Amino acid sequence: MRPYRYRVPPAREITPQQTWLNRRALIAAMGAALAAPALPRKATALPEVVPGPFSTDEAQTSFEVATNYCNFFEFGPAKDDPARHAHRLITDPWSVTIDGLVERPGAMAMEDILARFPLEERIYRLRCVEAWSMVIPWIGFPLADLLANVGVRPDARHVLFEGFDDTELMPDHARNLLEWPYREGLRLDEALHPLTILAVGMYGQVMPNQNGAPIRLVVPWKYGFKSIKSIRRISLVAERPVSSWQERAPREYGYYANVNPQVRHPRWHQATERRLHDGGRIRTEMFNGYGEEVAHLYDGMDLSEHY
Ligand code: MTE
Repeated sequence: MRPYRYRVPPAREITPQQTWLNRRALIAAMGAALAAPALPRKATALPEVVPGPFSTDEAQTSFEVATNYCNFFEFGPAKDDPARHAHRLITDPWSVTIDGLVERPGAMAMEDILARFPLEERIYRLRCVEAWSMVIPWIGFPLADLLANVGVRPDARHVLFEGFDDTELMPDHARNLLEWPYREGLRLDEALHPLTILAVGMYGQVMPNQNGAPIRLVVPWKYGFKSIKSIRRISLVAERPVSSWQERAPREYGYYANVNPQVRHPRWHQATERRLHDGGRIRTEMFNGYGEEVAHLYDGMDLSEHY
C-alpha cells in the first residue's frame, strides 16, 4: 500500500454536505444525484434508513472524494483505478455464503439481507494505514445481527471474510497484486461489537462498486484494510485466520490493525493523518477515537506486540 498523490479538490468542486436521515431525504437525494453530471450514482432504492448510534458530527468527506480516492486492489493499485474499473463487477445477483461453525450455514441473497436487517446510517471516521482519513456516512446494519441470525456455535473464535476471486473481472495490472480472494478476519468479540457493521450503502444510496458493492465490512477503530469490500463469504472458525496483507507483508500489517498513533508502520509514522477533504493534518487518535467503546476488548494485551 504505497501512498499515492491525489489532488484534493477545491471547495467549489465539492458537492455541499448533506445528511441522509430518512427515506424522504433519500429520494430527494436520488433526484439530485440524477441531475448531477459529475458521477453516475446508482438509482436503486434501499429500504428505509434510520439514524444509528455512534455517528460523528465532524465534517463529512464529499461523495466525489470518497468514490474517486479508493483502495480496492482487485481493480488496481492506483487510487483512481477502482473508480475506473469497478463497473466490471456484477453485483446483482449476489449472495453471501455463511459457513463454518454456525448452526444454519447457507447462502443469503442480497434481497433477503436487505429485507431482513433494518438499515441505519452510521457516520464514521475511516483511517487508512497509509495515514489519510475520511468521514463517511455509511448505511448498514450490525454484523452481530447477521451472526445472530445464523447462530454462532460455541467453538467459534474468529470470523474470516472473503471477497471475490474472479480474476477475469480484474484489469491485467491488478491480477497478481495479492492472492485472491482478498481475505480479512476479526476476533469473534470484535465482530460482535455494535460498532462493527456490514454496509450496503453510503451517502444515502446503494454502495458504489468502487467502495465495495453490494456489501462490505466497516470496522471504524481499525485501519481501513480490515474493512473488506464486496464480501462473498463469511466463515466462523476456531483458529485465527491469516489476512491478505498479513500474508503479503507480516511485519507491516498485523491481524489486529487497531489504529494506534504510537505504533509506527515500518516505513512511516502513524502519529498524524491527512483528512482528505480539507487537506489538513490532524493528530491520530488511539482506536481512531473509538477507545471508549472498544479499549476494553484489549485489556491486558500489549498492543505494540499485537499490532
Ligand atoms: N477490500 C477489498 N476486497 N480489496 C481491497 O483492496 N482495500 C482496503 C479496504 N477494503 C480493499 C478492501 C483498504 S486498504 C482500505 S483503506 C479501504 O478498503 C478503503 O475503503 P474506501 O475505498 O471505500 O475508502
